[in-house]
Amino acid sequence: MTEVIKIEGGHKLNGTVRIDGSKNATVALIPAAILANEPVTIYGVPDISDVGALTTILNYLNVTVERNIDGDLIIDPSHMKNVPLVEDTVTRLRASYYFMGALLGKYGRAEIKMPGGCDLGPRPIDLHIKGFEALGATITYEQGNYVIEAKNLIGNSIFLDIASVGATINILMAAVYAKGKTVINNAAKEPEIIDVATILNKMGANIRGAGTNEITIEGVERLSGCYHEIIPDRIEAGTYIILAAAAAEKVVIENIIPLHLEALLSKLQDMGVNMEVDVDQITIFESPNLQAVNVSTNTYPGFATDLQSPLATLLTQANGTSHIVETIYKERFKAVQQLQRLGAKASVGTGSAEISGPVQLYGSKVKATDLRCGAALVIGGLLAEGVTEIREIYHIDRGYASIDKKLSKLGAKIWREKV
Ligand code: EPU
Repeated sequence: MTEVIKIEGGHKLNGTVRIDGSKNATVALIPAAILANEPVTIYGVPDISDVGALTTILNYLNVTVERNIDGDLIIDPSHMKNVPLVEDTVTRLRASYYFMGALLGKYGRAEIKMPGGCDLGPRPIDLHIKGFEALGATITYEQGNYVIEAKNLIGNSIFLDIASVGATINILMAAVYAKGKTVINNAAKEPEIIDVATILNKMGANIRGAGTNEITIEGVERLSGCYHEIIPDRIEAGTYIILAAAAAEKVVIENIIPLHLEALLSKLQDMGVNMEVDVDQITIFESPNLQAVNVSTNTYPGFATDLQSPLATLLTQANGTSHIVETIYKERFKAVQQLQRLGAKASVGTGSAEISGPVQLYGSKVKATDLRCGAALVIGGLLAEGVTEIREIYHIDRGYASIDKKLSKLGAKIWREKV
């Protein structure tokens, strides 16, 4: 028996939805917390299965994790042991690779299985390795496990060929205790990186320039506990904004930082989506006459690759032909293929796709091939006539807390079933 999500489409959405703390910040903040020697308290941790997997990994390391009644996650690394992380849980998510930087930074040694995550085509970690090596580490890869070791970590200048989110965060974590100064050039600028630098600085690290393409880390000797509130999830927010543009009469999306969503909001404006942006919320009104647009994904502050699949669903409702160019993960078009099963008029090329509309979508059986594909299919289901059945929904639960409950509250007909 596996669980599926079923959606009866065609019901207009109304009401308010609250956005949780950022998944991609959370999955880095949790490993970052083990760099301290005292409890670290994080507020706003979303209730997603990736957090469950990271908690299991922390337990292997003898780190205790507890949720208090206010919803804070308290991570206590006081009695931590640096054991090899070779269990299968490590392969359940991409972000387990942050334990490489965190363990290397704290103990000078990390032994860890190859991380997993969504299948978006090739996802090498050569830049993470290059960064660790620049700090003085040696890396071996044996029987599916990385062993990363350094007698002493010494600050250095590192240029990233690609502004990689994961490599930037991993090098930050490896460098906080390194002797002297580390400079990351062509660093990624995503808001999640600022959040990680902020928690580390609260713990006592000395990091400057996060959010720019040059980050400087002066090594320190000790990190202590702290309290930190996670930034709102800009990708969850973007997903609900797109979903509201597709199916809302009037929906308010609360707990957002509009600055983090500029590329999306500007694209939606071009499409003719009716919206009202406030300080920390956005209202989306019914938008009956959408126009086709061209979009190219890019690193922040460009259009986020993680919102490309959800947007593809909305583009099926726009007048004319839209072109999508994917520059981060050239093969990230599995959602478009699944949308075709619902009746989308679309074609996929190398690193690009074309979508023509408007078309009526029809309920069918589809598969969430990755997290954001799952989100795109949920939006498809809301629009489609009849019932859509989405399989492999564990991908959705990895990154969207209670998506069925949040949507039911807005008036959607969505439920889970065992099949
Ligand atoms: N890359 C390399 N070598 C490396 C690292 C990256 O060639 O060593 C390439 C990748 O193959 C990709 C590009 O650089 O083509 C960007 O990858 P990046 O390292 O920035 O991505 P990531 O850290 O693996 C994070 C998010 C992704 C999000 C990307 C881009 C997490 C856990 N994951 O991945 O989120 O798509 O940044 O913004 O933070 C998602 O949430 O659905 C998701 C996949």
